[in-house]
Amino acid sequence: MLIGKAPEFKSSDITPREKFLNRRNLIFGGLAAAGVAYEWHKKMPPLYTPSVEASSKLATVPGTFPPVSDPVTPQGKATSYNNFYEFGTDKADPKANAGKMHVRPWTIKIEGLCNNPKTVDIDALLKFKPLEDRTYRFRCVEAWSMIVPWVGYPLAELIKFADPKPQAKFVEFTSLADRSQMELPGGFDWPYKEGLRIDEAMNPLALLTFGSYGQTLENQQGAPVRVIVPWKYGFKSAKSIVKIRFTDKQPTTTWNDMASNEYGFYSNVNPGHSHPRWSQAHERRIDASVFPKTIATLPFNGYANEVASLYNGMDLNRYF
Ligand code: MTE
Repeated sequence: MLIGKAPEFKSSDITPREKFLNRRNLIFGGLAAAGVAYEWHKKMPPLYTPSVEASSKLATVPGTFPPVSDPVTPQGKATSYNNFYEFGTDKADPKANAGKMHVRPWTIKIEGLCNNPKTVDIDALLKFKPLEDRTYRFRCVEAWSMIVPWVGYPLAELIKFADPKPQAKFVEFTSLADRSQMELPGGFDWPYKEGLRIDEAMNPLALLTFGSYGQTLENQQGAPVRVIVPWKYGFKSAKSIVKIRFTDKQPTTTWNDMASNEYGFYSNVNPGHSHPRWSQAHERRIDASVFPKTIATLPFNGYANEVASLYNGMDLNRYF
């Protein structure tokens, strides 16, 4: 399998937006009416075709949020400078090693305190809601940032489908950990885990992400599905998710578990709260330029209008 090699598509291969929406509405409208919404995929043969393992184009609708005005990071940079420790700790390792990961067939298990626990096939999930283009700022805790046009739909849609019980206060994400496909270096307690408070996860900015730059995610970006939480440091955005669990207790998360004084559970981008070993006031923007410029970091990564109210009354130095 080749990673990063898009197959040649003719424009006629791409489902026009109206047709995509009509087909989707027909399928989901009809199924909902029959009272069997979302059960169908269990009875059908897997939708697997080998070609979906390579990057392929996705039909999208315009994003709900206006794109950020900063220049977009070139795709080649966003897909070759990655953190995906399952494939090694160097930024070049994910691109070099993630080709071994099989992204079909793939399922996500929804479990815990919810009324609709299920194992969902990735291709059903992909078609569940229209895919939006969402160009976001993405800020890593290591003080570099990118502007990436992601493709997905609100995480809230999946949460509504799962229908959490009133006791559920948090949602935990678990990534794939499979030694036959991954390096899984020592020093980490695999699988990679992350978590959000349910109201954070329901915020319209939180994106269940299947693609970027109009294509399916490349493996090193967390194919076939990851979350993107743009107002938080990048490590909150778990890649290659296989399980979503609803819980009444704050879940243990990989980086918080490794060094709770360095990586808080909340990890909202906060230029006023330094990492114990470096300042978070500035970031190195990875864009088309040969020499990345250093720019000031914005509170909540520039999304304060959308998310600051989630943290009203909280001491953000204590809950960092
Ligand atoms: N998810 C998993 N499963 N494993 C990881 O190592 N790294 C995190 C996050 N999600 C990571 C992960 C970190 S530290 C960052 S900065 C982002 O993914 C990087 O996303 P990108 O490679 O698409 O830029």
